[in-house]
Amino acid sequence: MPVVGVIGGGQLARMMIPAAVGLGIELRVLAEAPDSSARLAATAVGDYRDEATVLAFARECDVITFDHEHVPQAVLRALVAAGAAVHPGPDALLYAQDKLMMRERLSQLGVPQPDWARVESADDLTGFLADHGGRAVVKTPRGGYDGKGVRVIDDAAQVADWLADGPLLAEELVAFERELAQLIARRPSGAAQLWPLVETVQRGGVCAEVIAPAPQTTDAQQRAAAEIATSIAHGLGVTGVLAVELFAASDGRVLVNELAMRPHNSGHVTIDGSVTSQFEQHLRAVLDWPLGDTTPLAPWGVMINVFGSLPDEKIAAALGHQPTAKVHAYGKGPRAGRKAGHVTVIGAELDDVAYRARAAASHFDD
Ligand SMILES: Nc1ncnc2c1ncn2[C@@H]1O[C@H](COP(=O)(O)OP(=O)(O)O)[C@@H](O)[C@H]1O
Ligand SMILES: [Mg+2]
Repeated sequence: MPVVGVIGGGQLARMMIPAAVGLGIELRVLAEAPDSSARLAATAVGDYRDEATVLAFARECDVITFDHEHVPQAVLRALVAAGAAVHPGPDALLYAQDKLMMRERLSQLGVPQPDWARVESADDLTGFLADHGGRAVVKTPRGGYDGKGVRVIDDAAQVADWLADGPLLAEELVAFERELAQLIARRPSGAAQLWPLVETVQRGGVCAEVIAPAPQTTDAQQRAAAEIATSIAHGLGVTGVLAVELFAASDGRVLVNELAMRPHNSGHVTIDGSVTSQFEQHLRAVLDWPLGDTTPLAPWGVMINVFGSLPDEKIAAALGHQPTAKVHAYGKGPRAGRKAGHVTVIGAELDDVAYRARAAASHFDD
């Protein structure tokens, strides 16, 4: 049995478990705490920033992969130096860890992006604002998620707190028609496989809903998204699943927002809606096994995130009212605003699929 070690015990590691069971892979997880979402597969509990902890965990594994991108570069490089097979490797993962490095590298690759600049001072930022109609999006290069670390500003003073801590990424405020995500998986030996392009709907900077495939996108946009993801996957040498978050701009262009190098929220719909889920594909890819078919199992799939908590009685009510809905609970304790699970429905008519998915998810409304 090949042993795949996952660093991080969140819901992404949790959802790799059934895929690993099916393929006869022994999955081991280095979790943050004994009650982590992926506790069923946790063989170690410890700090992913601690080199000795991570090296000891990796010694028991054939391949190391990730639930999140926060493992420090120094620890990643120590793993590689110790002979571990790390997928994605540190040279690729860097561009999912640091949004400034990502913008610089994607510029070199010639990938279409919003206008951007590295800003180190209020003066730099004031200049950028003046060149972009007085408004901009400012991001902390590292550590942001779910919209934390992203502010829309019209005055440099609005990020004075962040500027004190180091350089920031300034971006043009893109007037997008919709947000899209293109998922792809790539093996170390080079083969890659795309899923159909999806639309992601964010509320308050957080993904709320995913529609697969993306409605109302042109063939040209789908081709552009596929080309962008393919060139990033090969250009950066990504191994495993790569998610490319995209803006469909009102002028028809497709621009890269950011990258994730692991299974991604926009791909949860593939669990119930694709011949091969992103979790199975990620495991196949990091083991350099043949990739699976990514054909959808139905014309439409809609995935709705659930925040806060999924108490058993509400799960039972949702299942009782919506027998076609698939409910996924992440086994986390209740916490307001935190992703706690998701609901997916697939089927033939988008209106009907979206209605049933929203009806099932509404059982978890507070
Ligand atoms: N340049 C931009 N123009 C317009 N909206 C943006 C821009 N950058 C980010 N956003 C909005 O903020 C959300 C979160 O930004 P993102 O960089 O993806 O941060 P996170 O790492 O928190 O997901 C995006 O999904 C999008 O809705
Ligand atoms: Mg994002």
